[in-house]
Amino acid sequence: MRITVSVPGKVTLLGEHAVVYGKPALVSAINRRIYVTAERRSDSSIKVSSPDLKLQGLTLKINRSLGDFEFEAGERKSQILEPLRYILKAIEVASENYDKKSGANIFIQSEMPIGAGLGTSAAISVGTVAAYSALLGHDIVLDEIARMGHATEVAVQGIASPMDTAITTYGGTLYIKPEGTKPLMERIEIPCDFTSVLGYTQREETTSQILKKVRAAKDRNPEVVGLIMDAIGLLVEEARSCIKKGDPASFGALMNINHGLLDSLGVSTKALNDMVYASRSAGALGSKMTGAGGGGCILALCPDRVKEVSLAIRLAGGMPFDVSLSSPGLRVENS
Ligand code: PMV
Repeated sequence: MRITVSVPGKVTLLGEHAVVYGKPALVSAINRRIYVTAERRSDSSIKVSSPDLKLQGLTLKINRSLGDFEFEAGERKSQILEPLRYILKAIEVASENYDKKSGANIFIQSEMPIGAGLGTSAAISVGTVAAYSALLGHDIVLDEIARMGHATEVAVQGIASPMDTAITTYGGTLYIKPEGTKPLMERIEIPCDFTSVLGYTQREETTSQILKKVRAAKDRNPEVVGLIMDAIGLLVEEARSCIKKGDPASFGALMNINHGLLDSLGVSTKALNDMVYASRSAGALGSKMTGAGGGGCILALCPDRVKEVSLAIRLAGGMPFDVSLSSPGLRVENS
């Protein structure tokens, strides 16, 4: 048996980091996807292959227990460990959930850079959980998959909001507020042109490292950082009305404030700031870093200035690429 699923990447329109502390966020699925194929093996090994993740023909021995694996390609360990942790944990979470195991070949392909603030770790987690669950003979139930995808991220990172795993599962654009075991979610229709450009720069830190830095900043200055998180939550509420009213100019102004608040948390970098300011000078209605930060991507809202903003991002040292928002969520491609 062999099954392929695909899941979208995402951009956080507003609210990253604060969402980890229970504040709402606005997030949208983008038109770049990750494809995960799971194929049953006759033995109990898990073999992971991905040219994009530099995981070519890597075989893992899982004979002792699922979490306890050995590399056959030991020398490439540090390069491959990060995405691999999500894949293996996703398999472990699904196995425990259904109390079943199977050896599998897992093949992963990505249409976007990995670890760039576009939710690829959530996409890998959700895609692997979904494909492996189907391999074990279970129907793909979106709520179940989103829950297991989130459990995977929490287990690997120590801290994670349900935002990324929810958007890659359900797709579209969501207002999301973590609450108890299931987050509060509202599907948002975007009534007017929200054409945006992303600017990419190499990431210097992983999501886990940045999340730990923010937690440390909050522990050092709980009141000040608490107020910054409250402010981000408030501007997400404002932005939700702007998007519903079809007011991109006011939405863009809120993106600019959100970027300043993220910078004050210490998660932006000079390379990100250069792209953010260059986009605004080129006529973007608003621009901000998107995702965990420490490098990665910026998002510039620029319905009438796509060419100008793309050029400005390139001149600022980044790599521009267009995205469309509100793309479909988890999809079975073939089985
Ligand atoms: O950079 P990414 O794509 O891993 O996004 C992380 C988003 C955060 O809000 C910073 C963390 C989270 O769990 O919501």
